[in-house]
Amino acid sequence: MSFRKAALCLCAVIVWAGVFAQNREDIQEQADGYVWPTDSTVLKKLHQWQDLKFGVLMHWGIYSVPGIIESWSICNEDWIRRPEGSEYESYKKWYWGLSDEFNPVKFNPEQWADVFSRAGMKYMIFTTKHHDGFCMFDSQYSDYGIAHGPFKNNPKKDVAKYVFDAFRSKGFMVGAYFSKPDWHHKGFWNPYYATPDRHPNYKKDKHPDWWQSYVDYTGNQLRELTGGRYGKLDILWLDGGWITGDEVGINEILPDARKVSPGLICVDRTIKGPNENYQTPEQSIPKTQIRHPWESCITLTDSWGWVPNANFKSSRKVIGILAEIVAKGGCLVLGVGPTPEGLIEDKAITILDEIGDWLSRCGEAIYSTRIAEHFNEGNLWFTQSKDGKTVYAVYALEDGKELPIELSWSVNLPKDSKVVLLNSGKKLKASVKDGKVTVKIPKGIRQEPLALKFESAL
Ligand code: GLC
Repeated sequence: MSFRKAALCLCAVIVWAGVFAQNREDIQEQADGYVWPTDSTVLKKLHQWQDLKFGVLMHWGIYSVPGIIESWSICNEDWIRRPEGSEYESYKKWYWGLSDEFNPVKFNPEQWADVFSRAGMKYMIFTTKHHDGFCMFDSQYSDYGIAHGPFKNNPKKDVAKYVFDAFRSKGFMVGAYFSKPDWHHKGFWNPYYATPDRHPNYKKDKHPDWWQSYVDYTGNQLRELTGGRYGKLDILWLDGGWITGDEVGINEILPDARKVSPGLICVDRTIKGPNENYQTPEQSIPKTQIRHPWESCITLTDSWGWVPNANFKSSRKVIGILAEIVAKGGCLVLGVGPTPEGLIEDKAITILDEIGDWLSRCGEAIYSTRIAEHFNEGNLWFTQSKDGKTVYAVYALEDGKELPIELSWSVNLPKDSKVVLLNSGKKLKASVKDGKVTVKIPKGIRQEPLALKFESAL
């Protein structure tokens, strides 16, 4: 290479690096404690994940047997409701004992993967262990788990493995939910003392050996899950932010985990810092756009796990939530709990199929899009293609409402751009007047959220 060429290249690199640094700073400023990963494989996977937009978070455990809140009913905090008249210690005993009844004879992860794939979901997260400590994988470090109760002779007793495999074969990114707190472990809630709240029930400096036994146990299980037996994982979703990943050795575990699963995204939830590769607002959507990676986790019913006679959100509602989240730069992971027998119930399937049907026609406005500067006006949520040449608008139709006769918004639409209604593939007429765009909605179309695509003809 000539000296001149080399100098030109160097200049280009310096300019590019400058622009890059500037953007990065700009993003960092709004980052609310977010720390960008420095490992380029993690960054790459994060960007791939950000394109997926829609996933499922499955809570499944002994709490699914009676269909009650996951783990929390055994925690003695005053916001928690247990059946009237119950006595705490005997209640806990009953809860722990549910392990003897959990026998999901219809366990069919292929059905799950099929249902969620049809719904248009592209990634999944599965509860390998919730706060109650009941393992949904065959841990060599504990007998308290699905592989040791009535399900122990089932060929699929190492449940998590079969769940991950089924979803991988449908092209999903797979994620393991793991609760750092473990109320069943004696090093966390020691039976010598009462258990007043979610925290360890003893002073760590008085019982360093108890604490160490919990730390070792947790570290061992995390190594078990990420060490290869469960294949390559894309996401490690660590819940229970009252214990930090640091406390259970995550910094020592991750480098090995990333040898098995290059680029593994670690979500040490609510623990701002290098191991919270994306942030996770729960049952809520941030007020405005966020430039760093994030995901809202929101339930399809009012509960994380399966409960009888649940109150379901409509497909319209979920699509509206998804459009809002995507327009603000995030992903939606929708909570759906399998039944105690091991299936996804019919009512959930009906709603998920409606969502999938909509996404099969309108998904272009959602998947792999980027945030648009003008991202919201009333019930309209805007996104754009990566190259910025195509803009999309999703009209979130509310429950119980009919579609309006026309849609209008104030973002400028170039006069010569084509507008297509993705729901039907038909072209629509747009008029631009006094800075307002108006699009007439054809009569007689299906009452569902709308997705418009506008593309400059130039
Ligand atoms: C919370 C809860 C938990 C649930 C999780 C899902 O942190 O502790 O029960 O699993 O959020 O987002």
